[in-house]
Amino acid sequence: MSPILEARDLVKRYPVGEGVVDALRGVSLTVDSGEFVAIMGASGSGKSTMLHLLGGLDLPTEGEVVIDGIAISTLDEEQRTLTRRAKTGFVFQYFNLIPLLSVAENVALPFLIAGDALDRHRSRVDELLGLVRLSEKAEHRPDQLSAGEQQRVALARALAAAPAILLADEPTGNLDYTTGAEILDLLWDSADRLGQTIVLVTHDARAAAYADRVLVVRDGEIRDEIRLGRRRDHDAKPLIRRLAELGL
Ligand SMILES: Nc1ncnc2c1ncn2[C@@H]1O[C@H](COP(=O)(O)OP(=O)(O)O)[C@@H](O)[C@H]1O
Ligand SMILES: [Mg+2]
Repeated sequence: MSPILEARDLVKRYPVGEGVVDALRGVSLTVDSGEFVAIMGASGSGKSTMLHLLGGLDLPTEGEVVIDGIAISTLDEEQRTLTRRAKTGFVFQYFNLIPLLSVAENVALPFLIAGDALDRHRSRVDELLGLVRLSEKAEHRPDQLSAGEQQRVALARALAAAPAILLADEPTGNLDYTTGAEILDLLWDSADRLGQTIVLVTHDARAAAYADRVLVVRDGEIRDEIRLGRRRDHDAKPLIRRLAELGL
C-alpha cells in the first residue's frame, strides 16, 4: 500500500488575544490509499484543526502535509485551492448545502465551480444520487429534505469529483443514531466497494468503529492507534474495550 496522505510534525498555534492556543503539538500520520481512518477525540482535542490541515483548508504553523505526493506548503494559495478541489472532498457536521440550488445542482457544485454546466455531468450526478438513494429528489431544494437526506447530498457532492481523499468532520454529529448510521454505512460502502480513502473525525466510538484504524487524539497529540481492520459488522464494543484498556 502506498501513502496517499502524509502529515509530518504538524504544529498549529492560534493567536488568541495576547497569547496563543496550541491546537496541535506535533502530529505525524500516514494514510494509505483505500484506507478508512478515524480520528477520535474529545471536543477541543484538535480534530477539526487536524482535518483542515490534512485537506489543505488551512496551513500548519510548523510541519508539512503531503497529499497524493504534493507538499502543500510549496504551493501558493491558488494552487492550494486547485489541489484541494482536485484531491479532496469534504463533509461537515452542518451539511453546508446551497439553499437556492436543487439537490442535483448541489451535487454538481464541484463541476459548476470549475465552470462546467450541469448537463455535461448529468450521468455522474445521477450515479451519485443513486449511490445515496436520492434519485427521486434530484429537483428538490435542501430545505425540503430531512437532515439525513441533506447529509447524503453533502456526501454525494464530496464524492462528485472522485477525490483521492474524502475528509469528514463529525458528519453524524447533527443526526440521530439511525440516520447517522445510514451515513456511516454509505461511507463504509464507498471505502469497501469504491476503494475510497476516508479520514473521519468523530468524538463518538460508535462512528469510529466503522474505520479500519482509529487514531486517538488528546490535547493536540495522537496518543494511540487502534487497528480494527475492515469488518462488515460495525460493532463498537471491541473499540470501546480497547479504549478502556488504554485508559481513554
Ligand atoms: N480559529 C481558532 N482560533 C483560536 N483557537 C482555535 C481556533 N480553532 C480552534 N481553536 C482552539 O484549538 C483547540 C482545538 O480545536 P478544534 O481543532 O476545533 O478541536 P475539536 O475539533 O477536536 O473539537 C481548541 O482549544 C480550540 O478552542
Ligand atoms: Mg471539531
